Amino acid sequence: MNILIPKLKTIKIICSCMLFFILLIAGLAQAQQSLNNSKQEEKIRSLISRMTLQEKVSLLHANSKFYVSGIKRLGIPELALSDGPHGVRAEINRHDWGYSGWTTDSATCFPPGTALAATWNPELASKQGLVLGEEARFRKKDVLLGPGINIIRSPLGGRNFEYMSEDPFLISRMAVAYIKALQSKDVAVSVKHWVANNQETHRDSVDVQVSERAFREIYLPGFKAAVTEGGAYTVMAAYNKFRGDWCSENEYLNRQILRKEFGFKGVLMTDWAAAHTTVKAALSGLDLEMGTDIKDYNEWYFANPLIKAVEEGKVPVSVVDEKVANVLRVMFKTRMFDEANREKGKMNTPKHQKAAYNSAAEAAVLLQNKGNILPVNFNKIKSVAIIGDNATRKHCGAGLSSEIKALYEITPLEAIKQKFGASVKINFAQGYEKQSTFKEGSNRGQGNSDHVDWKLIQEAVKVARESDVVIIFGGLNHDFDTESFDKQNMDLPYGQEVLMQEVTKANPNTVVVIVAGSPVKLAGIVNRVPAILWSWYGGMEAGNAVADILSGKVNPSGKLPFTLPVALDQSPAHALGNFPGKDLTVNYEEDILVGYRWFDTKKIQPQFPFGYGLSYTGFVLNDFSTDKKIYEKNDVIHAKLAIKNTGSRYGAEVVQLYVSDPVSSVLRPEKELKAFEKVFLQPGETKTVKLDVKVSDLAFYDEETKSWKVEAGEFVLQLGNSSRNISKTVKISVK
Ligand code: BGC
Repeated sequence: MNILIPKLKTIKIICSCMLFFILLIAGLAQAQQSLNNSKQEEKIRSLISRMTLQEKVSLLHANSKFYVSGIKRLGIPELALSDGPHGVRAEINRHDWGYSGWTTDSATCFPPGTALAATWNPELASKQGLVLGEEARFRKKDVLLGPGINIIRSPLGGRNFEYMSEDPFLISRMAVAYIKALQSKDVAVSVKHWVANNQETHRDSVDVQVSERAFREIYLPGFKAAVTEGGAYTVMAAYNKFRGDWCSENEYLNRQILRKEFGFKGVLMTDWAAAHTTVKAALSGLDLEMGTDIKDYNEWYFANPLIKAVEEGKVPVSVVDEKVANVLRVMFKTRMFDEANREKGKMNTPKHQKAAYNSAAEAAVLLQNKGNILPVNFNKIKSVAIIGDNATRKHCGAGLSSEIKALYEITPLEAIKQKFGASVKINFAQGYEKQSTFKEGSNRGQGNSDHVDWKLIQEAVKVARESDVVIIFGGLNHDFDTESFDKQNMDLPYGQEVLMQEVTKANPNTVVVIVAGSPVKLAGIVNRVPAILWSWYGGMEAGNAVADILSGKVNPSGKLPFTLPVALDQSPAHALGNFPGKDLTVNYEEDILVGYRWFDTKKIQPQFPFGYGLSYTGFVLNDFSTDKKIYEKNDVIHAKLAIKNTGSRYGAEVVQLYVSDPVSSVLRPEKELKAFEKVFLQPGETKTVKLDVKVSDLAFYDEETKSWKVEAGEFVLQLGNSSRNISKTVKISVK
C-alpha cells in the first residue's frame, strides 16, 4: 500500500506532464498556423495592391475551357482545372471540347460516386483522394472538379452515378475523407454542385423550391461538412435556380450560408456556362466564371462587363478585391507559389491501380444468394456461360464530364477468361444489345430501350443449357446514367428481364450481376433468379473485382447507398408527382422524407433497403450499450457493441447506428443514420466497436426559431446492418 501511493503519484505527475506537453505542442502548432495565415493574407493584400483593375478581373474568368490566366509580371501562375470526380479527365483542347490527343493523360479510373459510397469505407475515399491528387499534380492541374455530392432524390437522376447517396451523413463522411486526402496533395477540390442539383431535366433553368427544414437537414449537410470539416478550397455553383435565383448569383446561398455560416474563404466558381449576370453575380459572392458560351473571353460576364460595372460604381472595387483574394488564397494553399516544394505527382502506379481495385471490390453489394449459389467454385465446374452486353462493355470513357481515358479497363469477360479460362470452358453469348449507336450521353441514347431481341435470347438460352453455371452481366450503361439527361424510367433496358427469366428457366444455376450507378427495377427477376450481385460501374479494375467476388476470393461487403424501390411510384418524389416539376419549377414536397426516411416512415416495403448487403459469412451484433442513460445537450453519446464473424470466411460488416425521436413536436423520420463503421473480421473473431454521436446531432431544424433544436425526452438508438434490419436498440434520454 505504502509503496503503491508514491508510485501512483509519480504516474499522475508523468501523465500531467505529458498532457501539458501535448497541449503545448498543439497550441504551438495552432499559433504557427495562424502566423502562416496572417503572413499569407499579408502577401495576398500586397499582390492585390500592385494589380490594375484589368489584372484583377483577368483572374476572375477563364481564358479557355479549363484555364484561368495568371499575371506574369507579378509571378502569378495560370490556374489549371480538370474534371473529376473519379479520375483526372484527359486533356481537352484549349478552345473547344475536343480531346488534345496526349499520350500522357491515360488515368486511373475509379468506380464512380455511388460505388464509392457503397463501400461505406471512408478510408477508400481517402485513398481515392490521394491517387486523384497525385495524378492531378502529374498532369500539372491545380483544381480537380469533384467530389459530386448532391443528394440522390429520384431513382431517375441522370447524375446519380456520380453522386453518392440519398443520405447526408454517408455523403458527409465519404466527402470529407476524399477532400482532405486530395487537398493534401496540393490540389484543390471543387465540391459540386452547390446546391440542389438533383435532376438533369431542365437543369439549367429549373427552379428548386424546398422548405428551409428539408434544405438544412437533407441537402446542405454534405456541403457543410465538405467546407467546415473537409476544408474544401473551391465550390462549384450548380446550373439550377434555387428559390427563384440562379445558384451562381444567389445571395442567400452564397453570402449568407456559404460565406457567413460556413466561413468559406475559397473560390466559388460557376458550373460551365452557368453565369447569367455581372452585377448581381458579383455582389452575391461568385468569384470565378467558367465555361461561358461566348467566344470572346473578354466579353464574359466577369471580364470587360465587370470592369465597366466597377467603373460605373455598380460593383465596389472591394468586392473585386475580395474575389481576387479568394483566388490567390487557393493558389497559396495549393502551393502554386512554391513549386519547388509542391507535390510532383505520379501517374497510374500499381498502387493507384490497387486503390481502384479495392474500391471496386468493396463496393459490390450482394443482394440475394438463394441456396448459396455464390461463390462459384471454379475448381469444381467444367463450364460457365457468360451472358450480357455488360460482360464486354467498357464504361470508364462515358458519362460526359466525368468520362475518363483509362489506362486500361478490364471487362468481366476478360477477367473471367484470364483467371479461369485455362480450366473452365467459357461460353459467351451477348444476350441483349445496346440499341443506341450515338455517343453515350446523347438524349437519343435511351431510344428503343424496350426492344427485346429474341434471337439473342435464344442464343443465350442455348449456352446456358450447355453450361454448369450461368452469369448474366446486365444493368445499364451511360446512355442512362449520364450527365445532361435523366432516365426515362427505372426499367432494365433492352429486354433484359425476359432474357434473365428465360435463361434461369433453362439453367437455374444463374447469377445476375447488375452493372449500374442508379436504381433499376428488379421486381421481374428477384423471384426467379437465385443470386443477384450489384457490381456498379467498377472503374478500370471492374472485371478483376467482380470476378474475385464471384469466385469467393473476395467476400462482398458493399451496402446500398440508396433505397432500391420495387417500382418508381414507391419513391417519394414520384409518389407525390413532383419529378421533374412543372413549368420549370420543382417543389420538393416530400420535404425531409427523402430515400429511406420516406420508405421507413411511411412503412413502404422497398425491393432492397438502404444500407443493405449480404456477405458469404455471417455476423451477429451483441452487447449494444451506451455510456449513460441520460445526457445533456452538449454531451456525446458513446455507444459500444460487440460484433462477431460467425461464419467460416474472412469478411466485413457495416454496423449502422440509426436514431429515432419517437415523441417530437414536429414530424421526424422513422430513423436517421447517425454513425457507422465497416468492421473486418476473421472467422470466429469478435471485435468491440465504439460509435459516437453528438447529442446536438439529434436535432431537427426548427423553422420558427431558425435554429437547430434537440427536444428533451427519449431517443431510440437502433443498431443494425440496414435501415430495415435493426437487431438491437437502446433508449436514452436527453435533459
Ligand atoms: C458539369 C460539371 C463539369 C463541367 C466541366 C458541366 O457540364 O456539370 O460537373 O465539371 O461541365 O466539364
